[in-house]
Amino acid sequence: MSRLTAPKGTYDIVPPESNRWVAVRDALLQPARLAGYSYVEAPVLEDTSLFERGVGASTDVVTKEMYTFADRGGRSVTMRPEGTAGVVRLVAEHGLERGPLPLKLWYAGPMFRYERPQAGRFRQFQQVGIEALGVDDPALDAEVVALGSRAFAGLGLTGVTLLLTSLGDPACRPAYTESLRSYLAGLPLPDEDTRRRVELNPLRVLDDKRPDVQEMVAGAPTLVDVLCAGCKEHYDAVRGYLTDLGIAWTAAPRLVRGLDYYQRTTFEWQHAGLGAQSAVGGGGRYDGLSESIGGPPLPGIGWALGTERILLALAAEQAGPEAPHRVEVFVVPLGTEAKRRAVGIVDAVRRAGTNADLAYGDRGMKGAMRAAGSSGARRAVILGERDLAAGVAQVKDLATGEQQAVALDHLIEELTQQ
Ligand code: HAM
Repeated sequence: MSRLTAPKGTYDIVPPESNRWVAVRDALLQPARLAGYSYVEAPVLEDTSLFERGVGASTDVVTKEMYTFADRGGRSVTMRPEGTAGVVRLVAEHGLERGPLPLKLWYAGPMFRYERPQAGRFRQFQQVGIEALGVDDPALDAEVVALGSRAFAGLGLTGVTLLLTSLGDPACRPAYTESLRSYLAGLPLPDEDTRRRVELNPLRVLDDKRPDVQEMVAGAPTLVDVLCAGCKEHYDAVRGYLTDLGIAWTAAPRLVRGLDYYQRTTFEWQHAGLGAQSAVGGGGRYDGLSESIGGPPLPGIGWALGTERILLALAAEQAGPEAPHRVEVFVVPLGTEAKRRAVGIVDAVRRAGTNADLAYGDRGMKGAMRAAGSSGARRAVILGERDLAAGVAQVKDLATGEQQAVALDHLIEELTQQ
């Protein structure tokens, strides 16, 4: 029978890399935890209309990339392509907006987009994200952006650039969109798809990566130049706070994100070492999203970071946390009585808070010491029948090879003190 493999565009996370993976994910969220963000979990499956209405009908994500199907009850459900719409739905559903504001939430988990797989682009991928809801304050925008930048810095990444812009709001964007549309209508755009995009969402044409289109739209008007007074004031304030915080950014007046809900502060982090899939994270303000999915008025801002791409960036920079040691102490019993003692010793060491493991499978000295070596342990405890009779165990430092006899009465203390 043919052997089954993980579906195209998906992958397995296996040891030893999986341990590093968890360490990276935790490190990315550490700054947000220190800023009072609480964990939320929304389901992977949501009503399809949540994304149609929330993420936007003109986006590639909604029109081409969603995993949508009818469940056995005939409801149209979609495997979440992103986390923000679900979090906003969850807030309204539980009336969280009636509690203290801003609501600060974090989440982590798999997202699904039917994209063409390539390096750094998967159909199932992992995001960590934060959302801050219920308060419209440029200082909160700056906090959210800073927590992302601090997350990258905390991992030791130095090649991440923050691109920042404002996408205006319903007061100023429509007039800009019209003027951009007229500008683009006068250009010899390459294909029907692009011309259709001019009608649906002309900003997206500015984001077209093809060099000929980039050249064509080089003189197009930009939104930051025509922001209304309110948006300009907000944007200036955000930049002021970021400067105070020492967060460097690059103004990116043509930055267009792949989701429709953004307004005002919008940003993306890119890493130069990743080729085409250079975005390691992104986000922005999405005031109005809650209303568009039938919720209460609720301003919000947040980001999501792509864990796979961040691991690639860490590999490119040879940075990031070491895979944590699987165990500190590895116990090697030689004989039946020694094995009984070993089981108790391992349990006691673990209860004292130190990682410990045991050579299972009744291997001889040679095989058991090989297992000790590949466990990554710092110390092996060798329990021989003769030593046991004398009330001692041999503790071997696996890095230096030094070995000493330790009285069984003091063994746990000796193994767990650091
Ligand atoms: P997004 O820019 O669509 O934003 O995704 C965030 C990050 O997820 C990207 O920067 C990238 O690192 C990663 N990512 C996206 N697609 C893939 C893929 N196919 N394979 C691997 N990684 C991928 C959002 O999803 C918004 N919900 C962010 C947000 C939160 N905005 C406000 N709050």
